[in-house]
Amino acid sequence: MDLSGKKAVVFGGTSGIGLATSLLLAADGAEVTAISRKPDKAGDLPNGITTRVCDVLDRKAVEAILSELSQIDILVTTATGGKRAYGPFLEMDLDGYKASFDKLWGYANVIRFGAKHVSDGGSITLVSGAPARNCQPGQVALSSVGGAVEAMMRAVASEVAPRIRVNAVSPGTIDTPMVIVQGAEREELYKKTTKNNLIPRAGRADEVAQGILFVIKNEFVTGTTVDVDGGWLLREP
Ligand SMILES: NC(=O)c1ccc[n+]([C@@H]2O[C@H](COP(=O)([O-])OP(=O)(O)OC[C@H]3O[C@@H](n4cnc5c(N)ncnc54)[C@H](OP(=O)(O)O)[C@@H]3O)[C@@H](O)[C@H]2O)c1
Repeated sequence: MDLSGKKAVVFGGTSGIGLATSLLLAADGAEVTAISRKPDKAGDLPNGITTRVCDVLDRKAVEAILSELSQIDILVTTATGGKRAYGPFLEMDLDGYKASFDKLWGYANVIRFGAKHVSDGGSITLVSGAPARNCQPGQVALSSVGGAVEAMMRAVASEVAPRIRVNAVSPGTIDTPMVIVQGAEREELYKKTTKNNLIPRAGRADEVAQGILFVIKNEFVTGTTVDVDGGWLLREP
């Protein structure tokens, strides 16, 4: 698929995996709108990328911006939505567990208000996460939300086919601004969390973005999840 002149909208497109996706789409000639709550933090972006402010949890705002940007050829959301809960499930604060689903509600808003503005033959792409299908202790919230994202993606893909394709890309541990700690602590964290993967390092945001570009461009791919995880799913426990 030639992306020149295609209109792309990337929620979460101002940081990490979303930003890398915006950059790849723009490099391929798409006109990209990268959206988040504080898009200024993305700094200077190349021609072809415009930033806009919107919170994916604000239904009215999501509806309004998608109506304004219509028609959209490529709709992507990577927006984390809010905070996520880590740690043993039996000790977890249940409000924190519930809040982890903000990612799902944000994705649901983008799909529900966005699908009608996606042009025929267009696509919607979501980002889930490797714990959806192979989790470690302490990752129940990530696993639950990721699994729900993938299940929603498959169910929606069936409903909107064949007009729109819907897919997910599932990252493993990826080095993005989502992790706040820096320096030696950051290196140690990534070393520890990836040591049992087939490829024992954190992935780069652009490696995940390449997976996102694959599902956008391949017109025979829908209702599926592409794993970009360094072999997380096959790792030793
Ligand atoms: N990095 C990893 O290791 C990893 C692993 C598995 C899955 N994932 C998934 O990959 C996706 C992208 O993560 P990332 O690592 O690229 O994170 P990131 O660098 O923190 O980027 C997240 C983006 O989402 C936006 N966002 C968050 N909440 C939002 C809201 N309520 N409304 C609008 N925009 C919002 C943020 O911008 P603002 O703060 O300006 O709103 C930011 O642009 C997420 O769904 C994450 O769960 C990441």
